[in-house]
Amino acid sequence: MLPLQCPNFFTSRRSTFALIFLQVKQFDFLILGSGIAGLSFALKVAPHGRVAIVTKKDRAESNTNYAQGGIASVTSKTDSFESHVQDTLTAGAGLCKENVVRTIVEEGPARIAELIALGMKFSESEAPSEDGGKQLDLGREGGHSERRILHAKDVTGREIERALLNAISQQPNIEIFENHIAIDLITSAKLQKSEIQNPKLKIENRCLGAYVFDKKSGRVETFSAPVTILATGGCGKVYLYTTNPDIATGDGVAMAYRAGASIADMEFVQFHPTCLYHPKAKSFLISEAVRGEGGILKTLGGREFMDGYHAMKSLAPRDIVARAIDSEMKKSGADCVLLDITHKPAKFIIERFPNIYQTCLRYGIDITKEPIPVVPAAHYQCGGVVTNVDGETDIAGLYAVGEVACTGLHGANRLASNSLLEALVCAHRAAEKILGTHHASRITPPIPLWQSGHATNADELVVVSHNWYEIRRLMWDYVGIVRTNKRLLRAQSRLANLQQEIQEYYWDFNVTADLLELRNIATVAELIVHCALMRPESRGLNYNLDFPNLNSDWAQRDSVVRRGN
Ligand code: FAD
Ligand code: SIN
Repeated sequence: MLPLQCPNFFTSRRSTFALIFLQVKQFDFLILGSGIAGLSFALKVAPHGRVAIVTKKDRAESNTNYAQGGIASVTSKTDSFESHVQDTLTAGAGLCKENVVRTIVEEGPARIAELIALGMKFSESEAPSEDGGKQLDLGREGGHSERRILHAKDVTGREIERALLNAISQQPNIEIFENHIAIDLITSAKLQKSEIQNPKLKIENRCLGAYVFDKKSGRVETFSAPVTILATGGCGKVYLYTTNPDIATGDGVAMAYRAGASIADMEFVQFHPTCLYHPKAKSFLISEAVRGEGGILKTLGGREFMDGYHAMKSLAPRDIVARAIDSEMKKSGADCVLLDITHKPAKFIIERFPNIYQTCLRYGIDITKEPIPVVPAAHYQCGGVVTNVDGETDIAGLYAVGEVACTGLHGANRLASNSLLEALVCAHRAAEKILGTHHASRITPPIPLWQSGHATNADELVVVSHNWYEIRRLMWDYVGIVRTNKRLLRAQSRLANLQQEIQEYYWDFNVTADLLELRNIATVAELIVHCALMRPESRGLNYNLDFPNLNSDWAQRDSVVRRGN
């Protein structure tokens, strides 16, 4: 019997191939994702071939679009690469790859200059530069010993997306497929399992493209390209409370894992200390820049508490602040803590943080007059698909750039505002690498089309929504800021049951966007738990009460997972 919901591997060779050439969408570069990583890569390669950008919602909808604080980079005379490198290494708690950190920090200013040349408008300082000209305003965030965050007020990401999409719209070689969700990567290893045997393909596991679900037509399309870029961002939606928008379901990590790529350090989920706490607010971040400009964390009773946890107080690295808040909330039983910036002039607050001011006002909080109720929430995935600093994965033809990738820059805890920087630098380096070596007119072999087999339309969608909720709730309760092995094991066994149910559902019923995302969050949740159980120590963002100290055997050691081992 035909397996359900699968590529058409088993159709007779001749008839399949005739169909293939008519129906496969062929490009030189297939980019999955339209955040800063995908868009900046697209602009670099567009002069050299046809580019498809596949993105699951509107083109601007991405984590990038919601970035507030800005991009960390050394642009002032009083700052130095060494200082940025040291701050990154300190935040990363001994797990960063120093050569990667140096490369990304040192190449940052050139990439920022390119972004500005494309039309990105960063906020300018009111104070003139030494020669009387204009200079960019530099913000400060947790873990940074200098002011070095370039920003566009508190809507940096929105401005980045505007500038990049505007540049993209002038490139005839780039086609954007909105409301298209990549389901799975197509690899030569998978083809070998089918009847279509091509001896040449046996040499290496190569990525040949992806199956993509068109949400509007309900059809699954086949995209073929010699180079595929995963730029699918992070996985905040694996947790019940997150700063991330709905797109962040870890699809890239899940797809890469299923394709056989190495995944690492998934236990290091960064919880942002200050997400707005309000029953009607969904995922609204209160930027760390608010603390950078003097905002102070207090208990509901008005007591400042961060001096009891770290010398940098409210501006300590994120893992420390998030844990301190968690601990204060547990001690007092309060639902949130407060972030107070009312001691700053109202005019300054409104001009520097217009989006935060207006949004809080809509919820009845005037941040110039009263403190902001905040809680920690899942924010950033420090681990991901293992790559080098050029975005190369261990599958030929497959690159990963941006939050989906694990380059070694962030180690056990990302330094604030280093992720937009990483995406810019690594997208550039990946493009250079591909154009310099790989791309030379590679011919992609024929790929079987997707077929739905005996799958039918799902009769009970409540199963999908229930499992979505259950995973997010159990990840929040058992795999959160403070962990124990007992809770991790409990999560592991629940996830195994859910995974079985989801797999059955996936094979039996026609795919929908919710089902595809559910399948991915289940996989990513399992990977987070698996990596957390592998690491017998507390380091950076992985805090386990059963192993409260650092373990020297795990210094410089990544927790790496591959399918099948
Ligand atoms: P994203 O920008 O998330 O883009 C991912 C893209 O992939 C989206 O277009 C999405 O639709 C698409 N996609 C996902 N899955 C699929 C699929 N299966 N098929 C097709 N398309 C898919 N970092 C900083 O450095 N500075 C900051 O100030 C900052 N502030 C932040 C504020 C918030 C509220 C959040 C949530 C994050 C913030 N971050 C910040 C983190 C930073 O924004 C992200 O790490 C970064 O934008 C990731 O960029 P990306 O291109 O890798 O992914
Ligand atoms: C923020 O503005 O606090 C987010 C910065 C980041 O996540 O890097």
